[in-house]
Amino acid sequence: MAPRKLAAGNWKMNGDLAALDQIAMIGDAGASCDVLICPPAPLLVPMIAGAGPVKIGAQDCHAEDAGAHTGDISAVLLRDLGASHVIVGHSERRADHAETDAMVCAKAAAAHRAGLVAIICLGETEAERDDGRTLDVIATQLAGSLPEGATAANSVIAYEPVWAIGTGRTPSLDQIAEVHALLRDRLVARLADGADVALLYGGSVKPGNATEIFAVPHVDGALVGGASLKAADFIPIIAALD
Ligand code: G3P
Repeated sequence: MAPRKLAAGNWKMNGDLAALDQIAMIGDAGASCDVLICPPAPLLVPMIAGAGPVKIGAQDCHAEDAGAHTGDISAVLLRDLGASHVIVGHSERRADHAETDAMVCAKAAAAHRAGLVAIICLGETEAERDDGRTLDVIATQLAGSLPEGATAANSVIAYEPVWAIGTGRTPSLDQIAEVHALLRDRLVARLADGADVALLYGGSVKPGNATEIFAVPHVDGALVGGASLKAADFIPIIAALD
């Protein structure tokens, strides 16, 4: 079995009810790979209702299944609503909410308990890359963020260099290849089905660079921010993966 290809859109804190038509357009375009949109939490219910073939996921979940955590959302509820995936450990949450690898690991475990696929995000800062520490940082984040019980069916890893997010800058194809090869090696060493875990690249993926990025070994799809907000931009990215 090869990893399932996945074109995932992370809308972050963007989008509104009117954006439901973008989901319909993305679904109507058709795709043989998996297509996922992760909208802001209040849009999950209407988007799930109108998603058609597009999968709908969340951008975060709490590590516990229920309890006194005002403002948080459990993986159990997300699954109950019909979400299929949840992003955990995005660098914006690691930075804005001081999320550590241990917290990300606990959230991914909660996603697994609930029956969701956890998209576990990893990525180095520009300073870490400049210091030559990229591979160490990525290996440490993977080791600390991937919970026991992870499998190719319940986990996706997204490599998102922090300095490439929303900047229009991307690593060279060789740099992407180097990190994805490391991820594959570590997953194969740790999981029985590590060869089948989908590895996404994220960070300034656009229609103009998607084809070359998807040709990099062990890139099984993308986690796309800005270019997933409009169907006109996201559909060509999906087509490049398909
Ligand atoms: O999670 C996706 C993301 O962080 C990449 O964002 O806007 O650079 O595609 P963007």
